[in-house]
Amino acid sequence: MVDFQLPTFAVFLIVAVKASALEKYTAAVYEHSVILTGDTPKNVTPEDALKLMNKNLDILEGAIKEAAEQGARIIVTPEFGIFGWVFTRQTLYPYLEDIPDPQVNWIPCMEPERFGSTSVQVRLSCMAKKYSIYVVANMGDKKPCNSSDPKCPSDGHYQYNTDVVYDVEGKFVARYHKYNLFATETYYDYPKEPEFVTFNTSFGTFGVMTCADVLNFREPAISLVEKFKVDTILFPTAWTNTLPLLDAIQFHSAWAMGMRVNFLSANIHNPAIDITGSGIFVPDGPPVYYYDMKTENGKLLLAEIDVHPHLSPTYPPPVNWSLYASSLKNVSPEIQVFTGAVYYDIFTFAELSKQAGNYTVCQKDVCCHLSYKMAEKRQDEAYALGAFDGLHVIEGEYYLQICTLLKCKSTDLKTCGQPVDTAKTRFDSFSLSGTFNTSYVFPEVLLTGTQLAPGEFQVLTDGRLISKNSISKPVLSVSLFGRWYGKDSPHPQFTSP
Ligand SMILES: *[C@@H]1O[C@H](CO)[C@@H](O)[C@H](O)[C@H]1NC(C)=O
Ligand SMILES: *[C@@H]1O[C@H](CO)[C@@H](O)[C@H](O)[C@H]1NC(C)=O
Ligand SMILES: *[C@@H]1O[C@H](CO)[C@@H](O)[C@H](O)[C@H]1NC(C)=O
Ligand SMILES: *[C@@H]1O[C@H](CO)[C@@H](O)[C@H](O)[C@H]1NC(C)=O
Ligand SMILES: *[C@@H]1O[C@H](CO)[C@@H](O)[C@H](O)[C@H]1NC(C)=O
Repeated sequence: MVDFQLPTFAVFLIVAVKASALEKYTAAVYEHSVILTGDTPKNVTPEDALKLMNKNLDILEGAIKEAAEQGARIIVTPEFGIFGWVFTRQTLYPYLEDIPDPQVNWIPCMEPERFGSTSVQVRLSCMAKKYSIYVVANMGDKKPCNSSDPKCPSDGHYQYNTDVVYDVEGKFVARYHKYNLFATETYYDYPKEPEFVTFNTSFGTFGVMTCADVLNFREPAISLVEKFKVDTILFPTAWTNTLPLLDAIQFHSAWAMGMRVNFLSANIHNPAIDITGSGIFVPDGPPVYYYDMKTENGKLLLAEIDVHPHLSPTYPPPVNWSLYASSLKNVSPEIQVFTGAVYYDIFTFAELSKQAGNYTVCQKDVCCHLSYKMAEKRQDEAYALGAFDGLHVIEGEYYLQICTLLKCKSTDLKTCGQPVDTAKTRFDSFSLSGTFNTSYVFPEVLLTGTQLAPGEFQVLTDGRLISKNSISKPVLSVSLFGRWYGKDSPHPQFTSP
């Protein structure tokens, strides 16, 4: 007996360690076609506000139920998914609830009266409990204040864009007030500090952030990953697609790869105003994503992903983004450069005039190198290599360093950088690199029809973004999107009155 016990125990231990390293869970995101309050802001009673919110919650409940039935442990629903975004500060008020600090230890579904008027919170909690799934939703928080606080708004309360999370018992486990409001969100207030909201589960550590948090400022995004070491970011969003470089699926999948973290992105579905694109993004490419400009319906996405991506054998190694490019000597042929605007930023471009070649284009400190081979050089399409090193200042201020290979809108080079969503030119190979001053670089590859290219490219540890084989569809853009946080402007919370 004794002879057998030791080895059996040892084998069991090895198996247990291996199993935990490879542990997976099913995650869900729901792209929701939100029912809006109307085309213009209007004053409504709290009863009418709740009626509208319940219509959206009915649809979200259908998705939550289906996700749970398919084995999902957690579901993310979009920013503005319960009441939309057509508000003034005043007309939003009836839609808000006072959301307590989760430390109060509260299951709203069990104690619905404990914090006053909290119908939305109670309903979300009850859904999580009933279907036994973590539920992530976005709603509005209101907090009274008075003249003892010099920043208190004149109407006597703060209004916050807020994510809430409930566990499988319906317990309220996380509350996050969005720190980086988009330019149009004038009906919400900035929280005084960035909040770092994380929680632990048996399937990993989670961090919560919202929409522009992924682009506008360093915090809370970077600390959630680097300091709090979350496995998965929960990301409710309402993201307007902005080609050529800031399409939702393009940028969010690139962020998951660059930051080497799981990223569950749930977007609104509203093709009429270019809002679509959700996905379950992981460090080595998305198992599932959705982009649909044709239908009006919502969409549930599910995928099985790693509990701890950093323990996975496919976890990508860290990258020195400037290593390859800064090792190159002055290889650039004499080429003609020109300028063009990409989402208001003035890039330096060079046309890819041959079927294959090596090009270098620089702007300030960033030099971008490209080696490429097209399957054929078409006469009806133009491509360019672009470099940008500067502060973006429209609809948010953030410092960028970017290298991009993109299709110009037409063969007129003045159109390079303008949005275009179809292409015919196939690439046999590409290798793109740049002399970045930042280690926050997000690798993007976007194909015709606004499709991603999972498994078709990789990033080498020396910072080259390379194709693996010839690319399955014509290419819209290949980019290294860098954020140099050290050169950002101060947060608007410190500059606005
Ligand atoms: C002002 O608000 C603080 C909390 O923010 C509260 O403690 C205090 O009682 C309030 N004062 C008045 C006069 O309402
Ligand atoms: C989650 O677990 C980690 C590691 O055990 C711990 O360091 C961290 O404080 C926990 N976070 C929360 C929010 O409980
Ligand atoms: C990346 O490589 C460059 C060039 O060799 C080197 O100067 C730099 O220190 C490296 N950066 C990191 C973060 O290792
Ligand atoms: C580009 O450079 C690589 C390596 O430096 C070289 O092997 C290749 O022939 C060059 N391609 C063209 C088309 O000049
Ligand atoms: C940025 O990178 C360029 C090129 O590698 C280098 O010349 C420059 O000194 C760097 N600037 C800073 C502030 O690090």
